[in-house]
Amino acid sequence: MDVKIIPGVIQECDADAIIVNLFEDTQPGGATKAVDDPLGGAIRDLIAGGDFSGKAGQVAVLYPRGAIPARRVILVGLGPRDDFEADAAEAVRRAAARAIQRARELKANRMASILHGAGAGGLSVEEAAQATTEGSLLGLYDYRGQKTGEPPEPLPRSLELMIFNERDVPAAQRGVDGGLAIAAGVTLARDLVNLPPNICTPTHMAQVASEVAEEVGLRIKVLGREQMEALNMGALLAVAQGSDTPPRFIILEHNGERASELDSIVLVGKGVTFDTGGYSLKPKESMSKMKADMAGAAAVIGAMRAIGALDIPLHVVGLAPASDNMIGSRAYRPQEVFTASNSVTIEINSTDAEGRMLLADALVYAGRFQPAAVVDIATLTGACVVALGGVAAGLFSTDDTLRDALLAAADSSAERLWPLPLFPEYEKAIESQTADIRNNGEKGSGVGSSATFLKHFVAYPAWAHVDMAGLAFGDKDNPYVPGKGATGFGVRLLTEFVRRWSQRE
Ligand code: BES
Ligand code: MN
Ligand code: ZN
Repeated sequence: MDVKIIPGVIQECDADAIIVNLFEDTQPGGATKAVDDPLGGAIRDLIAGGDFSGKAGQVAVLYPRGAIPARRVILVGLGPRDDFEADAAEAVRRAAARAIQRARELKANRMASILHGAGAGGLSVEEAAQATTEGSLLGLYDYRGQKTGEPPEPLPRSLELMIFNERDVPAAQRGVDGGLAIAAGVTLARDLVNLPPNICTPTHMAQVASEVAEEVGLRIKVLGREQMEALNMGALLAVAQGSDTPPRFIILEHNGERASELDSIVLVGKGVTFDTGGYSLKPKESMSKMKADMAGAAAVIGAMRAIGALDIPLHVVGLAPASDNMIGSRAYRPQEVFTASNSVTIEINSTDAEGRMLLADALVYAGRFQPAAVVDIATLTGACVVALGGVAAGLFSTDDTLRDALLAAADSSAERLWPLPLFPEYEKAIESQTADIRNNGEKGSGVGSSATFLKHFVAYPAWAHVDMAGLAFGDKDNPYVPGKGATGFGVRLLTEFVRRWSQRE
């Protein structure tokens, strides 16, 4: 769907449907009133009759019958004004998604909408335009995969955001551009996670990453097995050796040529394209969603797409170590010992703790950029899902400023993070008799020992680890995140984090 800025007033617009909004238990004001007046108070009647209260997510359709040029009016509820102000951008994304989904059901082609949340809602024009664009585009996401047959028409084809005040046009355009960049990154990540594991191989991910690099102007380098061997990436290669599908180490770089003058931020994503558990084999129920075990890498590639498109003035590097985790005659086994690229030796006591093996060598690699901050994101532990119930990702950090920056980005993107500790006691859980450390903590040491393991590969002051296990798939309460399939979690969080970092004093 095309999103355009159009100067003008919504009540004069001749689209297939126009979208206006209402706060809960209020009377129409502003643009909604400007539409309701020529309709002879049809919206006020709906409210008076008890058919519409403005509850968040509520949608009604009205037919103007020639009273205004538009064929239909879609009225969407914004919820109580006080709740709205607490997190206006999120309320706008949700309302915009609900309204546009209704437009699709109505097979509307040409849409127009007011900017939800600008003015009375307290958002700036730019914020309102971005949130409206993001919510509308993400709400229309549809994955068809390998289904054969005629796909449905991609309706609506256009959304015109009506800008009442001519001088707001540049700010609105910046917001739309931001929303488009972010929605494209999220869509890319969702598509990668939804793809079946026989198609979304490490090679495929590298292919998609190079298309992204081409599209938004990033540097790309992709390492194969030999190059990883030359770099002594023994941890990553231990996982990869069990599979005939070759591994890839993907390096995307934004502003690479200006690395010496700009802060460097490195983003690292776990790219396990399928996790069987290896010889520490997963039971079949736990294996059923493991095509999503590359969701961290997908989030990094998606965020790099957005960061490149937004041309954020920082040197940003995205690393995506990618491999599947299989069984076979060459697969790694419990009790084997491997040496990572920083010479730390690792005893394997679960081949199912493979993600941290990939991240180990990638975190070492991140060190070569003299990073101001490194953030990794991974579907790392079932224990994190148990700890936080799958409604927030776990956040670990060695640096309070970095932690707070990520929490702030989580807040404004509504991609929830919750801080978890790196207590020194967790070191005990990964002590090994035969190597420097072992890859799986004692029973019950769960999410903390996994982060503590990763810390052994970090040689810079500011590092954070995001455990997004449980968040890669489905969010039934959120209209702009699919209830089934990939969420694209992490793209908006990481992009917002980097954007804010670039605006730091
Ligand atoms: N990919 C899994 C973690 C996971 C679990 C992601 C559930 C999404 C949903 C990871 O590789 C894994 O197998 N972790 C083990 C760690 C254990 C062996 C230390 C786990 O959580 O059981
Ligand atoms: Mn595993
Ligand atoms: Zn895994």
